[in-house]
Amino acid sequence: MFRSFFSYLAKAAWARNIVANWSFAWKMASRFVAGQTLADGIQVIKSLNDLGINATLDHLGENTDSPEKARRAAMDIVQAFEGIETAGVRANVSIKLTQIGMGISSELCLENLKLILEKARSYNSFVRIDMEDSTVTQKTLDMLFTARQLGYENVGIVIQAYLYRSEEDLHKLLGDCFKIRLCKGAYTESSHLAFPKMKDIDANYDRCASLLIDASLANDCPRVSADGKIPPVSGLATHDSKRIDFAKQYAQKMGLPRDAMEFQMLNGIRKELQEQLVKEGYRVRVYVPYGTEWYPYFMRRIAERPADLWFLLPR
Ligand code: FDA
Repeated sequence: MFRSFFSYLAKAAWARNIVANWSFAWKMASRFVAGQTLADGIQVIKSLNDLGINATLDHLGENTDSPEKARRAAMDIVQAFEGIETAGVRANVSIKLTQIGMGISSELCLENLKLILEKARSYNSFVRIDMEDSTVTQKTLDMLFTARQLGYENVGIVIQAYLYRSEEDLHKLLGDCFKIRLCKGAYTESSHLAFPKMKDIDANYDRCASLLIDASLANDCPRVSADGKIPPVSGLATHDSKRIDFAKQYAQKMGLPRDAMEFQMLNGIRKELQEQLVKEGYRVRVYVPYGTEWYPYFMRRIAERPADLWFLLPR
C-alpha cells in the first residue's frame, strides 16, 4: 500500500511542486543523490573509485515534455561523458529514454540517443539504458535493437525481474550478446504484467541471474574493462544479500571468474556491503545520480523502503 502511494507521488506534479521545494526533502534525497551539479557527481565517483568501486553516472531526468528539453538533456549527458573523461574517473553513463524524448517521438529520441552513443564511442565508453515502467518496455527494447542495427556496440539495457516477460526478453538479448543489468524493478505494475509477490520476484531474479551467468560463460566471459567503463555481460543490480549470495554460489559452481560479473548498487545504500564485495575480489559498480530533477528518483527509493522516511527526517 505504501509502495503504491509513494509511486503515485513520484509521478504527481502537484506533489513534486510542493516537496521539491522543501529544503529538508532535499536533505533527505541527498543520501541517495550525489548533488545538483556534474561536479558533485564526479566528486562522489572519485571517492568510490578510491575504494575500488566503479560507477555509472546518471544525469537525473525523465518524461521530458518538449523537444528543446529533450535536446538539452542529451547535451547534458554528453557533458557528463566529458566530465568523466576530464576527471579520469572509472565510470560509464546511465540514461533514461523518456528523458531524451521517447514520450514525444521515436525519431527525436533516436537522434538524441545517437548523439550520446557517438560521444560514448569517442571515449571508448558505454551507455546503459535504464528500464522505466511497463508502458515503455517494448519501445525501450526496440530502440536498443535499432541502435545495435546502426552499429553501436557500446550500449546495454536493464531487465526487471518482476515482469513476467523478462525471462523471454533475456533469451533474445543474450542471443545477441547484449550487456545486461538485472534488477527487481522499481515501478508499480499490474499483476497482469508483473509478479505481485516478492518471493516470486526473488525466484525469477535468481533464475534470470543464472541465465546471465550461463551466457557470460558461453561468450568467453568478457571481463570488466581495466578503466571501469565497459561492463561485463552480467550486471547484478540488487542490495539483497540472498540474491547476491545465490549469484556468487552459482557463478562459482559454473566456473565464472569474479571479474566477469559485477554487482551493482545505488549510491547511499548498503555501502558496507559494496566494500565487502570488493574485498572478496568482486567487481562493484555504484549508480551515481546527480541533477536538479531528483524528486521522482527519491520517491522511488522511499517507495522501496518507506520506513527510511523516519530515519531520514531531520530531528
Ligand atoms: P529489495 O528491495 O528486496 O531490498 C533488499 C535489501 O536492500 C533491503 O532489505 C535493504 O537492506 C536494502 N535496501 C533496498 N532498498 C533500500 C533503500 N531504498 N534504502 C535502504 N536500504 C535499502 N529499477 C528499474 O525499474 N529500472 C532500472 O533501470 C533500475 N536501475 C537500477 C540500477 C541499480 C544499480 C540498482 C541497484 C537498482 C536499479 N533499479 C532499477 C532499482 C531496482 O529495481 C530496485 O527497485 C531496488 O534496487 C531495490 O531492490 P533490491 O534488489 O535492492 O531488493
